[in-house]
Amino acid sequence: MKILVTGGAGFIGSNFVFHMLENHPDYEIVILDLLTYAGNLETLKDVLDRPNVKFVKADIADREAVFALFGEEHPDIVVNFAAESHVDRSIKDPGIFLRTNILGTQVLMDASREYGVKRYHQVSTDEVYGDLPLDRPDLFFTEETPIHTSSPYSASKAGADLLVQAYHRTFHLPVTISRCSNNYGPYHFPEKLIPLIISRALADESLPVYGTGENVRDWLYVRDHCAAIDRIIHGGRVGEVYNIGGHNERTNLQVVKTILKQLNKPESLITYVKDRAGHDLRYAIDPTKMMNELGWEPTTTFDEGIAQTVDWYLANEGWWKNIVSGDYQNYYQKMYADR
Ligand code: NAD
Ligand code: DAU
Repeated sequence: MKILVTGGAGFIGSNFVFHMLENHPDYEIVILDLLTYAGNLETLKDVLDRPNVKFVKADIADREAVFALFGEEHPDIVVNFAAESHVDRSIKDPGIFLRTNILGTQVLMDASREYGVKRYHQVSTDEVYGDLPLDRPDLFFTEETPIHTSSPYSASKAGADLLVQAYHRTFHLPVTISRCSNNYGPYHFPEKLIPLIISRALADESLPVYGTGENVRDWLYVRDHCAAIDRIIHGGRVGEVYNIGGHNERTNLQVVKTILKQLNKPESLITYVKDRAGHDLRYAIDPTKMMNELGWEPTTTFDEGIAQTVDWYLANEGWWKNIVSGDYQNYYQKMYADR
């Protein structure tokens, strides 16, 4: 079995590569990644020289390069993680999100059709459902919740999802889609809330909390997401959408305070800054379908996962300090100048 993992040098894609190598050591893994600011070959350094791992630097929206790769490798399964993934960046510059997330998906599916891929899996997000009110804890996103997006990022992911469903209906491409809640864990780029707070708190820097900090996210340890995708590509029904989440809702303020406590840093570092434009209030996934159909369950509680994650960032300072000291500095200054 040969699996093409796009975006495999990013946060979730790299964790998925590790998961597959551990759980399916006989599979061949081809990783395609453009190595944008979010992709890091350093993350993959321990697996790149394995005989069943191949890395190719390419753009999923580059039709020629993608078709050439499919022609050479003939993957059985494609799992598409490659994307522009940060909401704040999509508010500053939507264009690249449409190109990578929608057109890139189209190119991958065209190549999958041409080369008879047995399963095309699209890694989507719960953000395509929009948000839920804070005062209705009884409401959850199911697979039937209408698409209703808020940011250019989520609109681009929703556009891709619709295209994936259209390729299934029109061309009978054997697709599946997963929509997961917020991930956290090792190799998470430090522009996202949890690694941002850990890295800044360690440097005793102010911790920017948007608005009141009452927005709720439903956190899932990244390896649980990877295990869920493994179940879907092997046992999921073609044409179906699967929601992935573990009922771990926390306000942003709760998350920040939990991290501060573990690092033994003072809450006085918290700084309330201008809110994100269009900021979604609450995400909460109903994962019943994953559990009933595919027998998947998350294995890491939030308390365990956040403790492991903080420990990982403490033990792997080299990995994130490289990022924080590079180009990312300029981005951070620009992004937060007006907050
Ligand atoms: P990430 O930003 O950490 O990684 C994205 C990867 O894609 C990087 O390695 C980058 O180099 C690569 N990439 C970007 N543009 C590319 C292009 N044009 N061609 C080839 N490679 C390209 O993102 P992530 O957090 O790992 O998210 C992975 C996927 O999971 C995304 O599709 C995202 O929408 C989805 N998702 C993320 C979360 C989350 O909490 N992070 C939750 C649900 C779904
Ligand atoms: O729900 C899945 C989504 O989760 C994925 O599809 C996205 O790719 C991923 O980036 C993530 O989106 P969020 O916008 O929820 O994640 P982020 O880490 O950017 O923000 C989490 C919450 O924390 C959100 O309510 C905004 C807030 N926040 C974020 C940052 C970066 C802050 O308060 N301060 C910050 O500095």
